[in-house]
Amino acid sequence: MVLAGGYGVVGAEVARMLRARHPSLPLVLAGRTPARGEALASEVGASLQTMDLSGPSPLDFSARAVVTLVNDPTDRLLRACLQAGIPFVDITRWTARVQQALALAAVEPPRAPVVFASGWMGGLVPLVGAALARELGGASVIETAILYDLADRAGEDSIEFMDRLHVGFEVTEEGQRRVVEPLTGARRVELAGRPRRVVRLDTPEQLTLPLVLGARTVSTRIGFTDESATLAFQALQGLGLFHLLRGERFRSLRRALLRGSGKGGRAVVHVEVSSPGGTRAATLVDARGQAHLTATGATLALERALGLDGDAPPRGVAFPEQTPSPERALAALRSLGVELEIHPGADVERRAA
Ligand SMILES: NC(=O)c1ccc[n+]([C@@H]2O[C@H](COP(=O)([O-])OP(=O)(O)OC[C@H]3O[C@@H](n4cnc5c(N)ncnc54)[C@H](OP(=O)(O)O)[C@@H]3O)[C@@H](O)[C@H]2O)c1
Repeated sequence: MVLAGGYGVVGAEVARMLRARHPSLPLVLAGRTPARGEALASEVGASLQTMDLSGPSPLDFSARAVVTLVNDPTDRLLRACLQAGIPFVDITRWTARVQQALALAAVEPPRAPVVFASGWMGGLVPLVGAALARELGGASVIETAILYDLADRAGEDSIEFMDRLHVGFEVTEEGQRRVVEPLTGARRVELAGRPRRVVRLDTPEQLTLPLVLGARTVSTRIGFTDESATLAFQALQGLGLFHLLRGERFRSLRRALLRGSGKGGRAVVHVEVSSPGGTRAATLVDARGQAHLTATGATLALERALGLDGDAPPRGVAFPEQTPSPERALAALRSLGVELEIHPGADVERRAA
């Protein structure tokens, strides 16, 4: 089992989780500087491998499966796995890159399961949406609100999404596709005990949930624990500054914008599904932070790809919300230490900010 980026912030959580759940699974942690992963490798009993996804030549290797925990900007790893028939999981792609991956999978049809789990938190948001829709017998509206703790740990590779904060993206509203600007559409949603300002963010479940569940409106919004950060990000976007801050020259400045204490924080996500049959909501809280919560999504996606979840592995490409057993996935989430509360949803305060 090759974990590309396996000794990064998210990768380390995935390695520990896989070792705890599958003690005899061989693990390989891959990256450009494997010496950085030595302590983790000896902790979880993994081996280390040098791999550079930004290199020029095609990758050539074999593995039981690959989990991509670092951006694969030119699809080198995806292409290698498609060509070699290796089961593949990716949690890193923003929507345009999911679309790029789907185009590649049309050109190189997969011979092994491929799970694109890049929805928020390694695909947990769409997975939970599917579980709520199953309870309700359908989904017409799916709305997600994220509380991002600025004290949380996030690695260098996570800042790539900052390069998207000036780019409009398509969403589905009342069955119609329309383009919205990031960090707009402010609302107040009750999160972690008080109303928080949340604003729109480009995430892949806004592409896949309408397709998989037939939802007519899907939205994802994010707010920061320090509301002044949400407002500051909105102001920067409104002034067009994210556009100016693109590129390598401003990498450290972009990093500084996102950098909190990095000591660790709580991840909180609220998913609400409405259908003609009613409304259900789920609140996920992970006291170990966003990297741990993302790792639970990645772990469940890998178990899905390999059929370790009790269902037959998918044929070709699948998204997490296509699991045949979403309720079992919720039980697995709880067993991985995620607090999950399901409630009627109507009691949630949600109003324009
Ligand atoms: N779907 C979601 O909700 C979600 C949530 C959180 C994070 N993520 C994504 O997960 C990814 C990892 O985030 P993170 O916070 O763990 O980042 P990170 O700590 O920077 O980890 C990246 C890892 O990849 C390796 N790496 C970097 N560049 C590489 C390259 N060109 N080739 C091979 N390996 C390379 C790094 O080691 P070396 O420097 O030694 O190569 C490191 O081990 C990001 O892409 C982030 O956007 C997704």
